Amino acid sequence: MLNILKNWKNQQTAASNLESLTKEDILNGEIPEHIAIIMDGNGRWAKKRALPRVAGHHEGMKVVKRMTKLANELNVKVLTLYAFSTENWKRPKLEVDFLMKLPEEFLNIYLPELIEENVRVRLTGDPDGLPQHTKKAVENAVKSTANNDGLVLNFALNYGGRTEIVSACRQISEKVKEGKLRAEDITEEMFSAYLMTESLQDPDLLIRTSGEIRLSNFMLWQIAYSEFVFTDVLWPDFSDEHLIGAIGEYQRRGRRFGGI
Ligand code: FPP
Repeated sequence: MLNILKNWKNQQTAASNLESLTKEDILNGEIPEHIAIIMDGNGRWAKKRALPRVAGHHEGMKVVKRMTKLANELNVKVLTLYAFSTENWKRPKLEVDFLMKLPEEFLNIYLPELIEENVRVRLTGDPDGLPQHTKKAVENAVKSTANNDGLVLNFALNYGGRTEIVSACRQISEKVKEGKLRAEDITEEMFSAYLMTESLQDPDLLIRTSGEIRLSNFMLWQIAYSEFVFTDVLWPDFSDEHLIGAIGEYQRRGRRFGGI
């Protein structure tokens, strides 16, 4: 048999093994400590229903709450959600304005529950580029949940991976220029600390919904060794079962970090 066909057959067997994993098997298995999600497909979800695009974003906001609750129950340590990229400013003003109101609406509704559930809210992105009302709502949530030690709900908001790396390079270069740091002392760990994620651990699992297979400038440094799961499900349809399924897929992968 041609090698390419043999490999295909092996992949099929691995896929059917996943189907035979029960929900209980998955929940008893290794849970990724940091899950990062590119929440995509809100516009298409709305279009399928002849609704305005923003209706998809609004539905997506409810999924954010459900996934936060589930991730917390599963003892996930960090859930990073790509809510607005530095490129999303190019969208029509009406949509941008709506997206900038969503964090506020989300926190107005859910902050008391998040506090109750011991969730700590965190921001990865440039707060100064946000409208004042968005910045205020997020900063207030970060402050009021600062002492919680359950799930870290990390919103990537006004975030871009390349900008983040360039900004880290600039800060480090300044230190070298001032004689506070020697170029030869720059390490990967030190570089990571200059990124917007600072001390957060790298994502173990990256999920992107809606069938798009690209990274869209998301956590380019941090996902060097993450497992990727791409699903066709549109974000507003993403359910507990889908998250558990993605974790099952993660458990099936053998992470070797470049070793053997
Ligand atoms: C991409 O889908 C999605 C976004 C740019 C926004 C994601 C935001 C949310 C899910 C809500 C966030 C909630 C909080 C609380 C911050 P798209 O619009 O590109 O979809 P499409 O590709 O189908 O058009």
